[in-house]
Amino acid sequence: MSTLSPDSAWWRQAAVYQIYPRSFSDANGDGMGDLPGVTARMGYLSALGIDAIWLSPFYPSALADGGYDVDDYRNVDPRLGSLSDFNAMVSAAHASGIRVIVDIVPNHSSNRHEWFQAALASAPGSPERARYHFLDGLGADGELPPSDWPSHFGGPAWTRVPDGQWYLHLFATEQPDFNWDHPEVREDFHTTLRFWADRGVDGFRVDVAHALIKDMSLPLRSKPALEILVDDGTDPLFDRDEVHEVFAGWRSVLNEYDPPKAAVAEAWVPFTNRRLKYARPTELGQAFNFDLLQAPFSAVEFRSIAEKCLSEADASGASSTWVFSNHDVVRHPSRYALPDGSTLADLEAWLLADGATPVVDLARGLRRARAATLFMLGLPGSAYLYQGEELGLFEVADLPASSLQDPTWFRTGNKVKGRDGCRVPLPWSASTANFGFGGTPWLPQPEWFGEHAADVQDGVAGSTLEMYRAALKLRGTLQTSESLEWLSSPGASVVHYRRPNGWEVLTNFAAVPAALPAGVDLSKVVLSSGAPATESIPAETTLWLAP
Ligand code: GLC
Repeated sequence: MSTLSPDSAWWRQAAVYQIYPRSFSDANGDGMGDLPGVTARMGYLSALGIDAIWLSPFYPSALADGGYDVDDYRNVDPRLGSLSDFNAMVSAAHASGIRVIVDIVPNHSSNRHEWFQAALASAPGSPERARYHFLDGLGADGELPPSDWPSHFGGPAWTRVPDGQWYLHLFATEQPDFNWDHPEVREDFHTTLRFWADRGVDGFRVDVAHALIKDMSLPLRSKPALEILVDDGTDPLFDRDEVHEVFAGWRSVLNEYDPPKAAVAEAWVPFTNRRLKYARPTELGQAFNFDLLQAPFSAVEFRSIAEKCLSEADASGASSTWVFSNHDVVRHPSRYALPDGSTLADLEAWLLADGATPVVDLARGLRRARAATLFMLGLPGSAYLYQGEELGLFEVADLPASSLQDPTWFRTGNKVKGRDGCRVPLPWSASTANFGFGGTPWLPQPEWFGEHAADVQDGVAGSTLEMYRAALKLRGTLQTSESLEWLSSPGASVVHYRRPNGWEVLTNFAAVPAALPAGVDLSKVVLSSGAPATESIPAETTLWLAP
């Protein structure tokens, strides 16, 4: 029985909770989270007050990249369950009023995918090879890769096969890139979308959406640094204008359903106007916005990002999205615990030092993370939350090297630690073996996880879990429109906005209390991310004021 609201625009202001299935909940005790584990926790998810879950890949995979190396797009990894477990999970979610979004990985398959296996078994120039990017190498004997392109996880983006040709992989060696100029590739992804849509999923998260189309004209153009992008659609690898034809095609498929299926692009495109092209109503509808995630905890930055993103989203017909944490980044309470002014390189160095240097201020990190979260949950648009953030989890920075699994760790010769520290299986109960996760977890849980366990926060006023529950519950009455008004405040450290229905949100980004803006009535405070507000706004705190 479904208790979903009939609203076809449900996604525009949804709170979406990301589940990294192998680390969420392990029902069969093998140490790896699974789909029955998700079903078993539906009561928890429902009490949290989210509108949808997004599942990272649960497809058959050798896990060379945590499941983003997909062997078969239309099946379930037997370690995580079966298609009937998937159906049961969708039914349980829908019965709880929760929608389901699944992750689609179109840029690359795994090297175990039947098409790639067929390509390897076939000759250069064969139709089997044409679904990927196989090329002859440079140099007298083709011994050099066809271009200088690096891969995202370190090392070159090309691997040579025994007959001498090279294939392209922008990520790990085990993730060959599809050739999206090939009609069979396009058609097969339409089949995959329909396969899951027919099983009742409500939306799709599209992995590395901006990479599908490449300029493969010979000679290949040089691109020695992947992260440097241009904003005019002419980069050889990313955000090329032709990619939008692909997503217009996807929109036609998604619109075959009533209500139409939702979709969100993962496109690390730094230019808001170009990123929003993926989010047009004629394409996916939404694109992740990683601007706040990459910003320091600062009043000026947060306000200018929110203003810019909201006005540009408005102009394009998309709704904005917000996110602070996901399975690819250091958890935000840890990021905010580093000394002010820390860069991405400092963050990586901190991870490599097992979190020992520089010394972090965890209490401050969590205080700021909670303030940032309430700032964001009050904004118009969709909030994407990552499992465990509602427990105030920090990054596990000191995982033993022998347990690390991220390809980044291996492909950089152990110079960049990678993303395992945010993927450690969740603590459900402080006093149960493996903190109630299930069997011995595939990544070890630190002892301090017990302090964050869901059962020790349950019903405890002021706990991070109860703050998330309260905010998500109040969001229902707060998100009645998609606009807001920025209000002026006396101090530069305070950001203040009001929604048309009278809700107000005030954040003090400073490490000391801030004076209240004139006219603010503290008796209207219904939620604080920190200490109760008496006559000022506490340090690094967000307040929600009801009308
Ligand atoms: C996306 C995923 C990341 C994965 C990569 C390659 O960025 O979020 O986890 O490694 O794509 O699929």
